[in-house]
Amino acid sequence: MEQLDIYKLEDAYDEIVALRECGLRSILTHIENLEYDMRKKYDYSPIEAVTSRTKSFRSAMSKCEIRGLQPCVETFREMHDVAGVRIITPFLDDVQRVRDALMVRDTLKVVTEKDYISNPKTSGYRSLHLICETRTALSEDYEWNIVEIQIRTILQNAWCSLEHRLRYKKQDLTNGIAFEWAQLGDLFYEKDQQMMRLRDQNRAKGISGAKTLELELPAEVIN
Ligand code: GTP
Ligand code: MG
Repeated sequence: MEQLDIYKLEDAYDEIVALRECGLRSILTHIENLEYDMRKKYDYSPIEAVTSRTKSFRSAMSKCEIRGLQPCVETFREMHDVAGVRIITPFLDDVQRVRDALMVRDTLKVVTEKDYISNPKTSGYRSLHLICETRTALSEDYEWNIVEIQIRTILQNAWCSLEHRLRYKKQDLTNGIAFEWAQLGDLFYEKDQQMMRLRDQNRAKGISGAKTLELELPAEVIN
């Protein structure tokens, strides 16, 4: 690819990123409001932390190379993870709770849902992925934006962060290392369940700060 072409392509990519950032901002505001409302109503937030990022041009180009995709505007437009939000929850059942609460918003549609918690990857990776379309109001019209939302627990996130540093996409699947990571993933999953049990015991004893959380969501959102 010639220098001039690559500059043009980067400019086109930057425009897509700028649009995706609009979608990202509206989702982040939505999550902030959601957290405020839950704290107010239930004195509890199922959201521990939120991070977001847009994919760099270099990383988008390298995804094209790895996947054998033509690096062009259409490919970039279809990439579902140019804009990404990660929501970390304290407990395992908070993952679904956050998912359901997000769906209340009618300008957010889930296009694809990948539940790597019910069906973990062989690596041991666990997380709920929602590829969403969000309706973003611009100066003259609405635009649908694609945003990937990953929701996982503190423990699942700890596993992901460390595995990502040491192994993910590094192809060192030798010497039983892969097996140990998968085992660690299972162990963390057990601990997540154990911590939910401990929380429920606290709730049963009425210990403050551990109120039972019964969200009143419309039935169609939950089903
Ligand atoms: P990407 O092209 O990498 O985005 O993959 P994909 O479109 O096939 O989606 P997939 O659902 O497999 O994973 C998307 C994202 O989930 C990745 O970019 C990582 O952030 C995360 N992920 C998936 N698998 C693993 C894993 O085994 N380990 C870690 N640490 N993260 C993972
Ligand atoms: Mg990705």
